Amino acid sequence: MGIVFHERTKEFHLYNQDISYILGVLQNGHLGQIYYGKRIHEAESFQHLIEYGIKDMAPCAFEGNRLFSMEYLRQEYPSYGRGDMRYPAYELQQTDGSRVSEFTYEGHSVLKGKKKLKGLPAVYVEDESEAETLEVFLRDDVTETKLILSYTIFKDFPVICRNALFSHEGSEPVVLKNAMSFSIDFPDADYDMVTLTGAWARERYIKAHPLHEGIQAVYSMRGHSSHQFNPFFALKKHETTEHTGEAAGFSLIYSGNFIGQVNVDTFGVARAMAGIHPEGFAWTLEKGESFQTPEAVLVYSQEGLNGMSQVFHRLYRTRLARGKWRDMERPVVINSWEAVFMDFTEDKILNIARTAKELGVEMMVLDDGWFGKRDDDTSSLGDWYPNPGKLPGGIKGLSEKIERLGMKLGLWIEPEMISRNSELYRKHPDWLIGVPYRPMCHGRNQYVLDFSKKEVVEGIGDAITAVLNGAGVSYIKWDMNRSISEAFSRNQGPKEQGKLFHKYVLGVYQLYERLRREFPDILFESCASGGARFDPGMLYYAPQCWTSDNTDAIERIRIQYGTSVVYPLSSMGCHVSAVPNHQTFRNTPLKTRADVAYFGCFGYEMDLNVLTDEEKQEIKEQIYFYKKYRRLIAEGRFYRLLSPFEGDEAAWMVVSEDKKTVLAAYYRMRQPSNAPYKRLRLKGLEEGARYCIEGREGSWFGDELMYTGMVISDYACGIRPDTTRQGDYQSRIFILKKL
Ligand code: GLA
Repeated sequence: MGIVFHERTKEFHLYNQDISYILGVLQNGHLGQIYYGKRIHEAESFQHLIEYGIKDMAPCAFEGNRLFSMEYLRQEYPSYGRGDMRYPAYELQQTDGSRVSEFTYEGHSVLKGKKKLKGLPAVYVEDESEAETLEVFLRDDVTETKLILSYTIFKDFPVICRNALFSHEGSEPVVLKNAMSFSIDFPDADYDMVTLTGAWARERYIKAHPLHEGIQAVYSMRGHSSHQFNPFFALKKHETTEHTGEAAGFSLIYSGNFIGQVNVDTFGVARAMAGIHPEGFAWTLEKGESFQTPEAVLVYSQEGLNGMSQVFHRLYRTRLARGKWRDMERPVVINSWEAVFMDFTEDKILNIARTAKELGVEMMVLDDGWFGKRDDDTSSLGDWYPNPGKLPGGIKGLSEKIERLGMKLGLWIEPEMISRNSELYRKHPDWLIGVPYRPMCHGRNQYVLDFSKKEVVEGIGDAITAVLNGAGVSYIKWDMNRSISEAFSRNQGPKEQGKLFHKYVLGVYQLYERLRREFPDILFESCASGGARFDPGMLYYAPQCWTSDNTDAIERIRIQYGTSVVYPLSSMGCHVSAVPNHQTFRNTPLKTRADVAYFGCFGYEMDLNVLTDEEKQEIKEQIYFYKKYRRLIAEGRFYRLLSPFEGDEAAWMVVSEDKKTVLAAYYRMRQPSNAPYKRLRLKGLEEGARYCIEGREGSWFGDELMYTGMVISDYACGIRPDTTRQGDYQSRIFILKKL
């Protein structure tokens, strides 16, 4: 790993064993992008890669020189108004209304390790030797504003982390109307853009389409990262597959409004960028103030999309997630939501817990409905004290009883929300986001608290802290169930309005940080109507997230498969629920439901007391199985083998780092008639080692299993078709051990 600067050519080369990232100072002092991709040899000059060309009408920077136009140069952080006609990476409005600015190179420094981002989640290092950071100092002399572009390169990850920091020194204020976290110009546009898109109950479906001239983007303007688009996109070569070829992934560590876009110009240059969505964003900087963008993570892979995913998994699991739960085995939970919804008494909860304990469950999570007068979704959000009718001994009373059973207690909260029918609303009607003299939309009968205000974040924090203090709560599920409309911060001046969305997210991060600090032993799970805030920002505070409200096993295969493009299995909350499923009314075998849910943070979400003895026995065995393999599932290498987006079957597998233990799962959504033969080509095994497959006689070399494939057709390897496992929605798990 290294960061080299060449004084004569003013070029920087950041490299490790896998990647090279080369940028340089252009003639006009702006930063030019030279190369990003597979590691190449060091050289003093790569100036030949900077292509110029005389193009009529192009605004040129120097009189007499028709070659130098920003419109045709590949850049690192393009400005508005100095000749580049494409989308800029930032925009700085001045008091006279001018939006023209340019940041030119003043100097740079290289430091060991990686700095923290103030108030924002970011990838970290545990030891300075893990990474090096280049800070390039630029300045707009007219407005007297400084810009630091920061680039971290890691020793052991093909990763570059970028962010931008603006600091204003001029006496006249400036307004940042846009400030991307990164921008990069690729010399060609021969890529497919891969995105994760969806909606409630069908989050993060994988979509890919070839880049075309013009703009293509994913975004959220909802105040949270959203079900619709994840703050991520990748560019892969057309020929790239899951396991071969080039793929570059871009992930934004942020939980609010964002945009990730690629702008392809008519010379085939693809400009990729991501950051806070500029819509509604206007951040005034007075003298002495600064603005820090969120961090963007750039992953480069030569091993296809799956190779890219594995890098994200390892990085986010070990260098984004924090705290004691990062490396700890996650408890098997039983969640009350789909079991009883809000209709419960303490006895009912204890009854479920008792059975759960017998089956091996470790944590009883009490979901929505325990506080204020909440029996349905029309009231009580904001009244964070237990309902004595439901919980006579409060949370502490319940947790003591749960602990006596030998389990831990988890609790659901939704701190960012308020019901109009609540004591909190009667006390603080002005804590809501919304224009007071206009009608307001509700979402699920609830309104959003103005987390851009300190007193709101503190007030809610005090209330939640009071509930948790000494109450014996070991797990928090932090929910967020509606998007922000009528974005207006009451009793604040016009300048503050453009800050609302971002300050809201900072407020959420602050409260998370406070609760994490005050309750370091609590395991946090984030949630937003299922997966509407499943993003890297959240993972910094909560190492796991409720993946989707859709717990139907067949739907979950797609959701989890898509989520795995960026996020590690250790971050996905996955529960077995009752049939027919609440969302899809589908009946799936209990085995299939568990076989899907194992590949995440496992649990149940059903009334265990209504099950038959056989079902209870089956669940007991499932929990035993999960406990045996949960560390492997959380920490092993994950390979996607067969895509549920392409047919009626799916498969994935996990291999331990030492390649000794393997779990491979095969799912068949639709039973074919007179089924064709089937093999699964496994991945990541040791070629020359012999593996046995549980339940089969004999052993196989790793290379056989990878290149000829593991035969899974009925009748093969002495396998008789199991008539109880025929039909739609079937699954099989294969356990392989190295001999
Ligand atoms: C959201 C969550 C669910 C559940 C309910 C409770 O929809 O995603 O898991 O917690 O809220 O109201």
